[in-house]
Formats: sequence, C-alpha cells, structure tokens
Amino acid sequence: MTTSRRFEDKVALVTGAASGMGRATAVRLANEGASVFGFDVEAQGLAETEVNVKEAGGEITVCVTDVTSREQCFDAVKAALETYGRLDVVANVAGIVRFAHSPEMPAEEWNRVLAVNLSGPFYICQAALPHLIETGGNIVNVASNAGLMGQAYTAAYCASKHGLIGMSKSLAMEFIKHDVRINVVAPAGTDTPMNVGISFPEGVNPKLIKPYMGMRGMGRAEDVASLIAYVASDEARIIHGAVLSVDNGVMAG
Ligand SMILES: NC(=O)c1ccc[n+]([C@@H]2O[C@H](COP(=O)([O-])OP(=O)(O)OC[C@H]3O[C@@H](n4cnc5c(N)ncnc54)[C@H](O)[C@@H]3O)[C@@H](O)[C@H]2O)c1
Repeated sequence: MTTSRRFEDKVALVTGAASGMGRATAVRLANEGASVFGFDVEAQGLAETEVNVKEAGGEITVCVTDVTSREQCFDAVKAALETYGRLDVVANVAGIVRFAHSPEMPAEEWNRVLAVNLSGPFYICQAALPHLIETGGNIVNVASNAGLMGQAYTAAYCASKHGLIGMSKSLAMEFIKHDVRINVVAPAGTDTPMNVGISFPEGVNPKLIKPYMGMRGMGRAEDVASLIAYVASDEARIIHGAVLSVDNGVMAG
C-alpha cells in the first residue's frame, strides 16, 4: 500500500486493465489519486478490477475496448475525456504472446500479435497525444525484454515489442518540442495470467526459452506497476524516449 498521491486530480487511461500488470497499474494509479479509465476486451476481468479499485476508495470507469480496432481506440479515448474532462497519463499495457515454431506460425496468429501489441498502442497514442499535449501528460508503453533481445519461438512477439520500442522512440523525437513524454517499460517474466498454462510447441529447446524467465525468478505485476507509476509521475519529468527494464537482471546477462 502506497501513501504517496502523485496523481491527485489527474486522469489515467490504462489498457489491459482486466488482468495482470494492467490491473495492478489501474489499482496503483487510483491508489495514488488518479481517476482511471480502464480498457480491455475482457468484461469480467474489468468488472473485477473495478471492484478492486473502488473497494480501496479509488475512482475508475471501465470500458470494453478491443485495441486492434482504431475506431474503438478513438471512441474509448473520447469516452474517457467525456467522463473525466482531461487526460494526463496513458499506460498501454494490453498484450498477448504466442509460442510457435516460426515456419509453422499461421498468418492469422502473426497478424493478431502485431495488431494487439503494436498497432493497438499506436492507435491509442494517435487518439491521446493531442489531449496529453494540452495537459503536459505522458505515455508509458509496456514492451518486454523480448523487445530488446531475441527470444526463441516468439518471432511475432519479439517483432511487436521491438516495434513498440521503435515506435515509442520515434514519437519521442516527433514530439520532443512539445510538453509531453513518451517512454517504455520493459518487464521480463512476471507472475501474471499470461504465464499460466502456456503451451510450448512440441520439440522446443528449453534452454532457448530460459532468458524469458530469468535466473532470479519472476517479478510481480505490482513491481511493474510501481515503475509505470514512477515513469508516469512528475518525478520522472526529464525521462523521455527511455526504455526502462524491470526484469530481475535478465538484460544484465
Ligand atoms: N507476464 C510476463 O511475463 C510479461 C513479460 C514481459 C512483458 N509482458 C507484457 O506486459 C503486458 C501485460 O501482460 P500481463 O502479463 O499482465 O498479461 P495478462 O494476460 O495478465 O494481461 C493482458 C491483458 O491484455 C488484454 N488484451 C488482450 N488483447 C486485447 C485487445 N485486443 N484489446 C484490449 N485488451 C486486450 C487481455 O484481455 C488481458 O487482460 C503485455 O503487453 C505483455 O506483453 C508480460
């Protein structure tokens, strides 16, 4: 439980808010005073997040939104502005992973991973940036250690997360003269529903998947939410265009 209130009178939009790091981020920002607008495709998970936030005395509105739809992203950002009147923070947390032997990966799976992990955050950025510039706000995009290094059997995921980092740095340069910050947080293996029941394709070499989990074990969703909250806060006012790892040493090796 945190006692700081870095987001008093601020409005934060969080994608992937139905589960894992997105939920932890929604809870953390609300605990610190933000009015949160939470997006996800999972209505049930969103409802649980809403209960978590409200039971802790926080403010949240949830909205079923598929980030692969540009139209839904723009509509949802508009709804957030209509509900709370301003926008200060965007945390693009929603994401999916698929493991496959690359020669066998179906085109639909490749396209889906890129649509959720790369196109979705871009659409949200497009819709949100004009409003964030008005408030001196900022964007935190959640990539992965797989956006900084190779990870076997996840070519689409790696491509999407490398792409997300490139896209974020490009936006950071494009808006360098504006009062807005764009950064990336890069977790490694974290104990969330994403890692429950993963089915690895037959015949994988487990040694090639090891970097994904790291040598010191997995982090918690709250560890990532804590870094997102710091980067999104005014304490990080000169952090712009950065990629910050939260990975228990994975990128050290
Ligand atoms: N868990 C890990 O080990 C790990 C490691 C590195 C990076 N990440 C990244 O962290 C982020 C959060 O992952 P998590 O571990 O909390 O996973 P999670 O599965 O618990 O949560 C991801 C959320 O994204 C939502 N989502 C999926 N597709 C969506 C869509 N089209 N539109 C809107 N929402 C959608 C899901 O419904 C889910 O609620 C992801 O971007 C993931 O790639 C996770």
